[in-house]
Amino acid sequence: MNNPRESRPRICDYEGSNYRTEFWEGKGRDYEDRVERIALRRLLPRHGRRLLEIGAGFGRLTSEYDNYEQVVLLDYSLSQLRYAQQYLGTSDRYLYVAADAYSLPFRAGSFDGATIIRVIHHISDTSTVLRQVRRVLVPGGTFILEFANKRHLKAMLRYSLGRQNWNPYDLKPVEFVELNYDFHPEYIAQMLAAAQFETQCRVPVSFFRLASLKNRLPTSLLATLDGWMQRTGLLVTPSIFTQNTAVGSSPDNLTAPSIFVCPDCGSELVHDDHIVRCQTCQHRWAVRDGIYDFKAPLDE
Ligand SMILES: C[S@@+](CC[C@H](N)C(=O)[O-])C[C@H]1O[C@@H](n2cnc3c(N)ncnc32)[C@H](O)[C@@H]1O
Repeated sequence: MNNPRESRPRICDYEGSNYRTEFWEGKGRDYEDRVERIALRRLLPRHGRRLLEIGAGFGRLTSEYDNYEQVVLLDYSLSQLRYAQQYLGTSDRYLYVAADAYSLPFRAGSFDGATIIRVIHHISDTSTVLRQVRRVLVPGGTFILEFANKRHLKAMLRYSLGRQNWNPYDLKPVEFVELNYDFHPEYIAQMLAAAQFETQCRVPVSFFRLASLKNRLPTSLLATLDGWMQRTGLLVTPSIFTQNTAVGSSPDNLTAPSIFVCPDCGSELVHDDHIVRCQTCQHRWAVRDGIYDFKAPLDE
């Protein structure tokens, strides 16, 4: 059998990175963290059964998903998930899954909620990931997608002054650093529609992401103002949150006994102690200290 991992797009690998301590903690990004939480609270449903957090990282935002009975944290990095597990603990409420968003190891219709925050900007093939997300959601499920906006105020200004060579109005994503993309809002809208999502609302976030403002004004003031500005719908910010509903007919397996399938062939998995085994392709996948590891099979 061909190795399906060889044909997948490259991944921005956070394995072993100090994302938590080098990017967030004490790094002057309390404002960004707070305004993202404001947007999420605005967009999340009041209650849900099971939410998939794609690219959960170290679980920075997982506490926002308390309205869901269960949260599945998925990330390609085992080390990020270990941080998350240390922080959130081990219980039936949280499931930790190391896997690639290009090939989600879940049965169709296993979730009624999904989020992808600060992750799609690392994805070169957005269409495949969005179709995967749609596959694992039930019809009517809520999908919150955040993307880095290429048509933000600073980029438009820089472009008009000739200080930026890429065009913020062009629909094509811009890869400004390897595996880091900014997207045009219309491009994302088209991708979501093609993947069978109906966009309910788009919320501009991080109006005041400027060191000069953040250094001078209290974070709470900027966050409150941002919360107000988010209601304007002005899509000129560096970050945009979208709330989408899964449409079209597809299976509902929210109450199925197991959510997992083989990421390589999509078949049923059998649990044997600390290993899950595919009944069709016979690949075996490890469960390491409570984290399901679907990055590569044990036999490879
Ligand atoms: C910038 S971090 C964001 C983490 C978290 N969502 C947050 O906002 O704090 C991006 C995360 O996406 C994960 N990631 C990138 N590409 C991925 C892929 N193809 N499949 C699964 N996770 C991926 C990385 O491992 C990393 O933890």
